[in-house]
Amino acid sequence: MKRIISPSMLSADFGNLARDTRMIDESAAEWVHIDVMDGRFVPNISFGFPVLKSIVAATEKFMDVHLMIVEPETYLERFVKAGADLVVFHVEATEKVEECIRIIHEAGAKAGISIKPGTPVDAIREWLPMVDLVLVMGVEPGFGGQKFIEGSTDKVRQLKALREELGADYLIELDGGVCRDNAEMLFEAGCDVLVAGSAVFGAADPKAEILALLGE
Ligand code: DX5
Ligand code: ZN
Repeated sequence: MKRIISPSMLSADFGNLARDTRMIDESAAEWVHIDVMDGRFVPNISFGFPVLKSIVAATEKFMDVHLMIVEPETYLERFVKAGADLVVFHVEATEKVEECIRIIHEAGAKAGISIKPGTPVDAIREWLPMVDLVLVMGVEPGFGGQKFIEGSTDKVRQLKALREELGADYLIELDGGVCRDNAEMLFEAGCDVLVAGSAVFGAADPKAEILALLGE
């Protein structure tokens, strides 16, 4: 299975957004992770469409948009129009899971579903055959730079086993607390995609850090 790194722009320097985005564009990272927070689903507000637009304009890479907003169904189409290749919403944020998946697919993007550290894999089991990706949070959503919650690895293993069992083909993405010390273990547990914010942007050489996370 291919290994993908998705650097989280939440940890970029917003005064130099185009520069930091171009740096990712030239790196071995295949995806760019966009964290949208509304101050309601999580106790933090990040950014919305204008910032996403500037990032999209500075890279050709795959846009991995992670929505930490309540009632995501309201905005899904706009995120796809703004350039998202993949839109990930939280199961805890909506009553309309199936509708969210349908809206994203009809708008022409890949659909992902995410679970917080306290939400078991069982809570999303019925939708696993319909989604293109499952995002497992490795920290409580809301902030970059937190410590990885060890129990998250078990969910990755469960999702890998379920993919076999169900004959499904979703990718498994882990977001939060990824660093040099746990990346190899997470890929081996079954992750296809690792999000890394502070590990990449806090490194003296971000491009070299991306290669290190890939195990290269
Ligand atoms: C947290 C975000 C993450 C965050 C990851 O709510 O979803 O994407 O930016 O940051 P690090 O890699 O620093 O834990
Ligand atoms: Zn994220």
